[in-house]
Amino acid sequence: MIFKINIFAFLVIFLLLILTTIISFRCKKKFIRLIKKLKEIQKIISESFNYSDLNSLLNFVADSITNLLNAEKTLIYILNQNTQILQATIDNIKIHLKVGEGIAGYVAKTAEIVNIKDAYKDKRFLPLFDQKANFTTYTVLALPIYDTKNNLIIGVVEVLNKKYKKIFTKEDENILKTFSSTLGGILSNIKLCGDSKELFESFIKSFATAVDAKDPATKGHSLRVVKYALNIAKALNLSEKEMNILKYAATLHDVGKIGIPDNILSKGERFTEEEYEIMKKHIEITKEILNQIHFPQEYIDVQFIASTHHEFLDGSGYPNGLKNEQIPILSRILCIADIFDALTSYDRPYKPPYSLEQSIQILKQMADEGKIDKEILGLFISKKLYQIERREYVRINRQVAFSWSKLTPEEVRALVSSNLAKTLNISHKGLQFISKEELNEETYLEVELYLPNYTINVIAKVVYCKKEETDEYKVGICFVNLSKETEKFLDQYLTLT
Ligand SMILES: [Fe+2]
Ligand SMILES: [Fe+2]
Repeated sequence: MIFKINIFAFLVIFLLLILTTIISFRCKKKFIRLIKKLKEIQKIISESFNYSDLNSLLNFVADSITNLLNAEKTLIYILNQNTQILQATIDNIKIHLKVGEGIAGYVAKTAEIVNIKDAYKDKRFLPLFDQKANFTTYTVLALPIYDTKNNLIIGVVEVLNKKYKKIFTKEDENILKTFSSTLGGILSNIKLCGDSKELFESFIKSFATAVDAKDPATKGHSLRVVKYALNIAKALNLSEKEMNILKYAATLHDVGKIGIPDNILSKGERFTEEEYEIMKKHIEITKEILNQIHFPQEYIDVQFIASTHHEFLDGSGYPNGLKNEQIPILSRILCIADIFDALTSYDRPYKPPYSLEQSIQILKQMADEGKIDKEILGLFISKKLYQIERREYVRINRQVAFSWSKLTPEEVRALVSSNLAKTLNISHKGLQFISKEELNEETYLEVELYLPNYTINVIAKVVYCKKEETDEYKVGICFVNLSKETEKFLDQYLTLT
């Protein structure tokens, strides 16, 4: 009996031992798995700080969650607080849901976690994503994303289809909860940065527009200077931060012209000495205006760069006669970009535009005299960084048949209409097209535009010619002698049809 009891006791103890081993082993396994997942989350979160724009961050996070939970897709909805509409963008598909609509809308409304086994049997489910992406949703795990600081729901994360036809577990819920609380913090930060950046950019642009309004003669000048300057900065491999400073400084460099009297600004001839002195004051005014703007810390140099664009390396510039290393590289770039545009501009009332060759010659002479940076200028010329789209008006993406041929040979006439080309885009000022042949800037073309029932003959000037990857050339031409009436006619045709 004792023996029997002993055997029984032994069996019970043995079974208990096995059971506890199994349980502890399973717990341990679960624990290890959880730790592993948490480590993964940590890694994803630290990597997510590399993304400064919302879309790429959201894509990265969605992919990471999909992997983390062994699922097929993850949708991250962002809630617009004003419209109360949730929007998710995935694989270039946009999905909009009102709060209350669909699973995500339900989660946004109730703040509940939703874990469903069969989506199509759930009344709340709307197959919007399925229809657009040709996808079939089975299981869904969805929960709200909080801006914990303000205790506000700012989005919903929706994970679809646990792999191998499994269902989402409590463990999955916990992992996703951990993840989404941190995600909430990151998102609200990014959104805040994004908002203030947008505000800042629009503010700066509106300033530049104000200068244009004041001085129509130099319309588009600041914009073109931005393009030249950024071309140089790119060629010099400058950092993103430097490029941004340069962009803002170039946009704002002449903002001080707002304070120059109209009769001087729009004077149709050369300035007198006195007028020139007044004109020079635009720098000080620029400086003053920019002093009033609160720049984010990383753009604090914008004011200095913008207000030193007329300083020369030999100290002969204005307003402070700075020299050599006192003039930072961004100011040197801005100075060259500014002079080049002033030289080549058609719209300066006091001077005719210089040709590309003449302008380069003048700049080279200035470099020889030690006024502007020789190396930067060398790069500007050798890499043809002056090739930018100079036309600032709206072009319409429309194909109009037209022909072109070089004007110089006598057989020009015979060649016209043999070169039937198609425009890439066209306005009443000029057009773009693809040419097999390289066309030098400053080349004049005789162009015939074939509109229905009407042919326009016009002389055009090649303003830029860029080699494409296809070994063809993208050519931009400007109409030179289009009469006002024809211009109007063409504009109307392009706008109304
Ligand atoms: Fe200026
Ligand atoms: Fe300027």
